[in-house]
Amino acid sequence: MEAQLYSNNFADPLKVLRDCHQRIMKFLAVLIRISRDYRGGSFGKLDRADMEASLRYFHSAIALHSADEEVSIFSRLLMDAADPASNVHAEVRTLEGEHRTLSKAHDEIERFGRIWLDTGSLPPADWNALNKLLDAVNTTYWRHIATEETVIYPLAAKLMTPEDMVTAGREMAHRRGIDLNAFDGLPRTSQRKIHGALLLAKRSPDAGKKPGETA
Ligand SMILES: [Fe+2]
Ligand SMILES: [Fe+2]
Repeated sequence: MEAQLYSNNFADPLKVLRDCHQRIMKFLAVLIRISRDYRGGSFGKLDRADMEASLRYFHSAIALHSADEEVSIFSRLLMDAADPASNVHAEVRTLEGEHRTLSKAHDEIERFGRIWLDTGSLPPADWNALNKLLDAVNTTYWRHIATEETVIYPLAAKLMTPEDMVTAGREMAHRRGIDLNAFDGLPRTSQRKIHGALLLAKRSPDAGKKPGETA
């Protein structure tokens, strides 16, 4: 069954999640750079476009990424990790709590970013608050992503069955409006072309990514 899925995207759900981490850190670095360079003042066309793309990315990607992890990976991992009192269960609860905190922080960052984009400047108090949020989010992500990539994902790769991984990949595709059942039986080259076209059609929430990339 897994061979029917194309390898670049949802056949390897943990790779999709790792790729998403790279984009999270890339777009976060863009926001931090612009905030520090312009300190609430007006910026040029290119930096405006970069800020818009970064805010748009976070607006759509964070909820998808958290759902991918919590619903499709963590829940299965916890069923497979025998002892509910084990460190894994506690670590996953911490990660889920951080998802909530990060989501709220992203809402605030977006609010300040929109004020900045709409009015062309950000008052000093708001700029300070934005910087604090960006610093806090950056610090949290470094720890959060390191835990996921060095502890949780390797454990998921070890404990989840191949069938569970395929189901997780299908759920993640479904979250993005892609029905992988429609691809089954098609030659792999056709699968890739159709998938690329579907993602391009959804270009708006995927702004800032290359065709074929997922949130
Ligand atoms: Fe996470
Ligand atoms: Fe993650």
